[in-house]
Amino acid sequence: MTAKDTVKIAAVGDLHVTRTSHGVFQPVLSKITEQADILVLCGDLTDYGTAEEAHVLAKELTMGVKIPIVGVLGNHDYESGKEEEVKHILTEAGVTILDGEACEILGIGFAGVKGFAGGFGRCTLGAWGEHGIKAFVQEAINEALKLESALARLRTHQRVAILHYSPIAATVAGEPVDIYPFLGTSRLEEPLGRYPVNIVFHGHAHSGSPEGTTMTGIPVYNVAMPMLRRRFPDQPPFKLITLEVNPSNGTEAQGQTQIHAIGA
Ligand SMILES: [Fe+2]
Ligand SMILES: [Fe+2]
Repeated sequence: MTAKDTVKIAAVGDLHVTRTSHGVFQPVLSKITEQADILVLCGDLTDYGTAEEAHVLAKELTMGVKIPIVGVLGNHDYESGKEEEVKHILTEAGVTILDGEACEILGIGFAGVKGFAGGFGRCTLGAWGEHGIKAFVQEAINEALKLESALARLRTHQRVAILHYSPIAATVAGEPVDIYPFLGTSRLEEPLGRYPVNIVFHGHAHSGSPEGTTMTGIPVYNVAMPMLRRRFPDQPPFKLITLEVNPSNGTEAQGQTQIHAIGA
């Protein structure tokens, strides 16, 4: 197999960049550039979602990363109500931020959405009772629908879902059980099972577990940087995955870095 038949993806989330983070991430970002072809960012990219933090992150990424970057925002990126500005600043720096959209990079399809909370399995919160509960559940349903419509647009052989919140309980294991419902929801797992998704990356669960699988057997990786640092102290804090690109479907990697938006 030649080099162009495979694409290496580095995934990490929860950088929580602050206004004093200048230079902090350069060692890990330069390692990512050395080892990977694409960088996936799984949300909580900033700590309070301010424009100032986004500018620090944009500069860090521009300086340290020489490969395409695709990702989603996390709940922290919404904290200051400036998520559109954060997205704009990162987009200007060359990052593709997905919010219910899909794109193709080097022959790999990506569908991304922040996701939301609500709990797992039989403990998933239902839309019943007060308006507040229904609104909370509807937010999770809306995020699951956005994920589904993004996945539906992908035609590539390899399909990667990018989330901030977890779609399964296994990768939040290690967190206090009391907060499981706030770390993700099975509502995000349902669309993953309806499409041929190869890999799911998420963040948010800083004290969770590194990997699990969906009910249909799709590997799910929690790539929250604090968890990776703690679990694998001797390794750089990102997950590196190699995907084979199907050379027969006309979407094989060609070494170019163009990013194709798919659909609306
Ligand atoms: Fe986080
Ligand atoms: Fe988070």
